[in-house]
Amino acid sequence: MTATETQPRLLDASFASDNVAGVSPEILQALSQVNVDAALPYGADPVTAQLRDVIKETFGARAEILPVFNGTGANVVALQALLPRWGAAICSAQAHVNNDEGAAPERLGGVKLLPRPTAAGKLTPVDVHAELKALGFVHAAQPLAVTLTQSTELGTVYTAQEIAEVAEATHAHGLGVHLDGARISNAAAALGCSLGEITAEAGVDVLSLGGTKNGAMAAEAVVVINPDRVAGTDFIQKFSMQLASKQRFVSAQLLELFGTDLWRRNATQANDQAAKLGAALAEIPGVTLSRPTEVNATFPEVPTKIADAIRDRYLVHVWDTAASGNPVLRIMCSFQTTDAQIQELVDVARRA
Ligand SMILES: Cc1ncc(COP(=O)(O)O)c(C=O)c1O
Repeated sequence: MTATETQPRLLDASFASDNVAGVSPEILQALSQVNVDAALPYGADPVTAQLRDVIKETFGARAEILPVFNGTGANVVALQALLPRWGAAICSAQAHVNNDEGAAPERLGGVKLLPRPTAAGKLTPVDVHAELKALGFVHAAQPLAVTLTQSTELGTVYTAQEIAEVAEATHAHGLGVHLDGARISNAAAALGCSLGEITAEAGVDVLSLGGTKNGAMAAEAVVVINPDRVAGTDFIQKFSMQLASKQRFVSAQLLELFGTDLWRRNATQANDQAAKLGAALAEIPGVTLSRPTEVNATFPEVPTKIADAIRDRYLVHVWDTAASGNPVLRIMCSFQTTDAQIQELVDVARRA
């Protein structure tokens, strides 16, 4: 048996997620530009100072940014800073914090999650009210925060109004609002709004700001928007192992993304490619989109033979089983997805 015979065939990962993409050339260039001279560590450098100004312009004068290494870390830091020791966070049952972070919020942050089943990944004021029954009951973890994901794990988007309604219900009972914005750029690009409109202006208190899925190499951040509801973030960041010593390199990536319109350009490109792909697949007999393509993921419901043909060539996730019994695939695009790649996948599906 030869070595190649023993190795599994590698599937094309181009549509598996948006974090399969490389790094935006602008960000690589920004990294090499800051790779000169010495700079003070732990955020005391001039690049981080510049980033702080950009974040205040984007999220309001009281906003503070804490650059971190990854999205799970951002969520763990943000939720700890929002909640007292006895607090719990209401989330969608489909939320990344609930399913895909190895229980890091619980294990490392000591944050209990209160998952709610949702139709399209989105929480509403009804979910908030349903959990409030536990407030003041000493035997229950206290629901003292809500965590939303924008855009959601189901590729849906909260409008600014929907976030504001959840925030209003939340704040009315003294709870705080966290928003997991690993893909907030895709959401803002889809809505045609600013990042501030779906965060600070809608009542979000603390944000996990995503960079990596949208062209950064490894850069996310916690943004404290309302310091009246969030405490001790810098200490929590340190003991949660999310404080970079050579922070200028994380900050430089975020500065390039959010100090220019790169965040919107990359996100728009990824969204447009997913819309194109979804529309082309939907023209194939037997294929329907299980929901509209709102951001950079499309969820086609496909006959099994088409699903098999796609999955024989590509690494894509079977997300669900439709009422018809057919699989629903999640196919994701990034800022790097080309028209040729889309055409190839559509051809594979059409030939099945
Ligand atoms: C919605 C959401 N939040 C957070 C994360 C966590 O990011 P990381 O893998 O960098 O920890 C992801 C990653 O897939 C995500 O999709």
